[in-house]
Amino acid sequence: MLPLFILWVILLSGASAGHSRDCSRVNMAAQVQTRALVSVQWLADAVRNKLVGPKLRILDTSWYLPSTKRDTRDEFAQKHIPGASFLDIDECSDSTSPYDHMLPTPSNFSQYVGDLGIGNDTHVVVYDTSDFGAYSAPRVWWMFRAFGHGLVSVLDGGMKNWVAEGHPVTSEYSKPERQEFRATLNASWVKSFEDVMENIRTKEVQVVDTRISGRFNGTEPEPREDILPGHFPGAINIPFTSLRDDSGKLLGPEVLTKIFKDAGVDLQRPLWVTCGSGVTACHVVLAAHQLGYPGVCVYDGSWVEWFQRASPEHIISEGKVKKE
Ligand SMILES: *[C@@H]1O[C@H](CO)[C@@H](O)[C@H](O)[C@H]1NC(C)=O
Ligand SMILES: *[C@@H]1O[C@H](CO)[C@@H](O)[C@H](O)[C@H]1NC(C)=O
Ligand SMILES: *[C@@H]1O[C@H](CO)[C@@H](O)[C@H](O)[C@H]1NC(C)=O
Ligand SMILES: *[C@@H]1O[C@H](CO)[C@@H](O)[C@H](O)[C@H]1NC(C)=O
Repeated sequence: MLPLFILWVILLSGASAGHSRDCSRVNMAAQVQTRALVSVQWLADAVRNKLVGPKLRILDTSWYLPSTKRDTRDEFAQKHIPGASFLDIDECSDSTSPYDHMLPTPSNFSQYVGDLGIGNDTHVVVYDTSDFGAYSAPRVWWMFRAFGHGLVSVLDGGMKNWVAEGHPVTSEYSKPERQEFRATLNASWVKSFEDVMENIRTKEVQVVDTRISGRFNGTEPEPREDILPGHFPGAINIPFTSLRDDSGKLLGPEVLTKIFKDAGVDLQRPLWVTCGSGVTACHVVLAAHQLGYPGVCVYDGSWVEWFQRASPEHIISEGKVKKE
């Protein structure tokens, strides 16, 4: 019990050490980092040692395509990792946007996660219940980071591996006590329709699209009926599922490096990511981060916005084409 606790303290204090004393508290809070992945064993030890509380919060962030008809809130109510709360990506979003679950404002994000008992010195561990081992959790990991909170980790392998390794789940829930969270958005991490359009002209930045190949090349339908499949000029396809092993854990650095290389992506150069609605794109942000490239940006509107706004010349598809 003791070694784990000490390790955890070292992890937190070690991460925040090394900043000059004249840093303002705001900047210090924004710069505290932790590792991007924690193992099922690490979290199981933390839960068993009762470390879950104001300094460590677990979030079930499960969100799936509406076509799966999964009621993730109800699934959470029945079964979650002990001590976890539920973060709803659709609710924690910009309610004024016509596009799907766009980033909320910093103050709305602060309000939402503060209500889940998260303050700006809370280590947040995110997971979801996908059979892939992760689906939406990397998106929420990225959201915290975009809002200046580096103290966030993805549970490697998610609920799938938590259960497979024999750890307990529960239906018990007690709402954590509210904490004060102060988000500061680094707007340069988020790319717009205009940014992507400009980049199609300049070709300065590589853009990876993480949808499955059929949706990318136009031969399989998009989940939304009003949207046809396809991709924009210059996009490179790396399906998010290709970044995980059979058990659902993120692949190791050698294999990940090879995947980027084989796809023709140079991680030394700027990289943006896109997908259907900005969720699975974050798997590439996480993978690149693990390889030492933390600066991958997300096109938040992704294909849902692109298809609705772009003219047919900017939509490449082997299938049915968009009408003018
Ligand atoms: C959180 O951030 C706010 C403002 O950025 C700061 O005043 C406060 O002390 C921070 N709280 C913690 C617990 O770090
Ligand atoms: C922020 O939250 C308020 C209160 O819930 C809501 O009325 C408003 O629309 C939200 N703003 C955005 C941009 O989502
Ligand atoms: C925003 O992120 C960029 C890229 O990581 C970084 O260079 C810049 O310093 C950040 N800005 C702030 C205000 O933290
Ligand atoms: C398009 O995607 C489908 C489904 O993955 C695949 O069978 C087909 O070979 C792809 N076409 C091209 C040209 O890559």
